[in-house]
Amino acid sequence: MDQLRRGARRVGETAYRRVARPLLWRTDAETAHHGTVLAAQVLGRTPLTRALTVMGGYAVGPAAGDDAAVELLGLRFPNRVGLAAGMDKDGRGVATWGPLGFGHVELGTVTARPQPGNPRPRLFRLPGSGAVINRMGFNNLGVHALADRLRAAREQDLVRIPVGVSIGKSKVTPVEEAVGDYLESVAALEGLADYLAVNVSSPNTPGLRSLQDAGPLTELLDAVVGAAGGTPVLVKLAPDLTDTALDEALEVATAAGVSGVIATNTTLSREGVAPRERTRAEAEAGGLSGAPLTLRAREVVAHVAARTELPVIGVGGIMSGADARAMLDAGASLVQLYSGLVYAGPTLVAEAVEATSGR
Ligand SMILES: Cc1cc2nc3c(=O)[nH]c(=O)nc-3n(C[C@H](O)[C@H](O)[C@H](O)COP(=O)(O)O)c2cc1C
Repeated sequence: MDQLRRGARRVGETAYRRVARPLLWRTDAETAHHGTVLAAQVLGRTPLTRALTVMGGYAVGPAAGDDAAVELLGLRFPNRVGLAAGMDKDGRGVATWGPLGFGHVELGTVTARPQPGNPRPRLFRLPGSGAVINRMGFNNLGVHALADRLRAAREQDLVRIPVGVSIGKSKVTPVEEAVGDYLESVAALEGLADYLAVNVSSPNTPGLRSLQDAGPLTELLDAVVGAAGGTPVLVKLAPDLTDTALDEALEVATAAGVSGVIATNTTLSREGVAPRERTRAEAEAGGLSGAPLTLRAREVVAHVAARTELPVIGVGGIMSGADARAMLDAGASLVQLYSGLVYAGPTLVAEAVEATSGR
């Protein structure tokens, strides 16, 4: 049986590489992205399409049984592999990510106010580097729209995996008033999110990363943990923090009573980009993700795991099952994927689940 599923997965991988990826890559990166999320939304819409998704996920799925599951944050995760924030900002595919094989999904980042994000183009592939650059700028329909969608999905019993929601600051809100903005999102998501991820690490909202400094971070995390009413709160950090800044942020996070750390967001560095894509990468503002981030993200995870008892979700440059496993070896309890899916396709989920099961 496992043999059959591995065979099906190889067919799936080849189909993605030879057919789906060339088609998707004919369009600009953002159109391909919206097409993918729309497909997830459509697949989640009717009992028939949902059943087909489950069957497809099963056919190419991991040869892993119950030993893939893990208890963490007071939640049961069917496996250790999640979809990272930013892919499904508005929760359109919330009924689909589980059947596709993910063990959790982090929706968002959403903001209290709906906002269009930065002007297009704002998402770029660097195929020679296995990388992506984005400066989306939190384009989203706002937390209230997401809350409505999540409530409806839960009422219809369509949500079968833990759903985290990443919250950020609305662009129109001055950074000094950030706390109130985050608290509006916390209130709107009451009873709907299995965990909240406080995003203070996106490079694409002016001033946001300054909220990682000890003073503002203390104020923000104290307020969010206080308002979350027992829902686990995690904080997502940037890979560009110095060790000292990272240690300070961890101290603050622990004192505020957060339940875990997500490491890392995208990087402003252009290190690891292939020489022939260097000029382009330096010309485009935004956060870099994918293969150039693999080692740095793993290093930050190892640093966080060595310094705190907090569970760590490792994200950044997981392009293969081996990368996912290396994140666990570095100290992560769960992992998340984004850019790897652009390059390897959806069969990467099964590969990563298999590589991180039974641990
Ligand atoms: C197009 C795009 C949009 C993203 N949007 C968000 C976001 O809204 N919130 C967030 O916390 N991270 C966001 N991220 C960062 C990812 O969640 C992840 O931390 C980062 O891409 C590193 O993982 P990867 O190398 O597997 O892509 C985004 C990444 C990409 C590529």
